[in-house]
Amino acid sequence: MNERVEREHTDGAADFGAVFESWREHMERALAARLPDAATVPERLHEAMRYSVLGGGKRIRPALLFATARTLGLQAAEVEAAACAIELIHVYSLVHDDLPAMDDDDLRRGRPTCHKAFDEPTAILVGDALQPLAFQLLARDPALPAAPAIRLRLIDILSEASGSLGMAGGQAIDLAAEGQRLTIEQVEDLHARKTGALIRASVLMAAECVPDLPRPQYEALARFAAAIGLAFQIQDDLLDVLGDTATLGKPAGADREHAKPTHPVIIGIEESQIRVRMLHDQALDALAVFGERAEPLRALANWLLSRRY
Ligand code: IPE
Ligand code: IPE
Ligand code: MG
Ligand code: MG
Ligand code: MG
Repeated sequence: MNERVEREHTDGAADFGAVFESWREHMERALAARLPDAATVPERLHEAMRYSVLGGGKRIRPALLFATARTLGLQAAEVEAAACAIELIHVYSLVHDDLPAMDDDDLRRGRPTCHKAFDEPTAILVGDALQPLAFQLLARDPALPAAPAIRLRLIDILSEASGSLGMAGGQAIDLAAEGQRLTIEQVEDLHARKTGALIRASVLMAAECVPDLPRPQYEALARFAAAIGLAFQIQDDLLDVLGDTATLGKPAGADREHAKPTHPVIIGIEESQIRVRMLHDQALDALAVFGERAEPLRALANWLLSRRY
């Protein structure tokens, strides 16, 4: 990425849309280069992996890695492979989330879901294959800081965040909660696992790439990420109620169809919006320790607050 252009853009929040877009383009190239070619055997699986990963998505988790890197004085290139790893896990989670056995959705990122465009066994295998590819990048991608200790920490963070104590466990609780009455505390615990864990990992993986980052800074980033992660899923649930399918690129109203217990259902739309703003303020407060340096993270948090998809 052109660092000069990036710095100019992150100087003003108004221009953040442009830097966000440049990060997305960066990710498109970085991911395309790391996925097996569609002509490689087994062709259909590789075609489905590329279909699912490329050409869509906001790339929020990579953006969190890039913004954290910038805040801590790292170049985007130094965290590019880790950004790819987290996006691959995220895409695998979406492909499986859309399966008939889970949320049974036909539309994702404005296109037929993987199991619709291909078939269910292929969609299961896409998830099965994207997951190890993510960890392989952390183990051997030459673009990552080479120290084995750093690679091990990245693998540790991403595996915990995506496993039964993180995203996969959150998905299990989400499915079991359909049609149930949950307290708002239970819903927030579920969100912290199914969505918050990978958002937190995005920020902390960038932090791990800085050897000897002072503990208070690491903890401040963890607090920022926890608040942003929870706000992100509440917004996703609000958009499911308030958004339209064309803008979202996925079916609006799907949560009600599955009787998912969500903030809008339990505390109403207005209270949910207040909760999002409160979490946003908490996230910004956590960044105080970084002063001006955290401008990329503030700009990203502000972008997330006003997102429509
Ligand atoms: C959707 O995530 C699933 C949730 C965790 C809410 P995103 O809203 O980041 O989806 P993409 O990557 O932009 O498609
Ligand atoms: C999905 O939450 C979270 C994960 C994929 C881990 P949702 O089921 O609300 O996500 P969408 O709305 O289908 O994107
Ligand atoms: Mg789901
Ligand atoms: Mg879903
Ligand atoms: Mg949703």
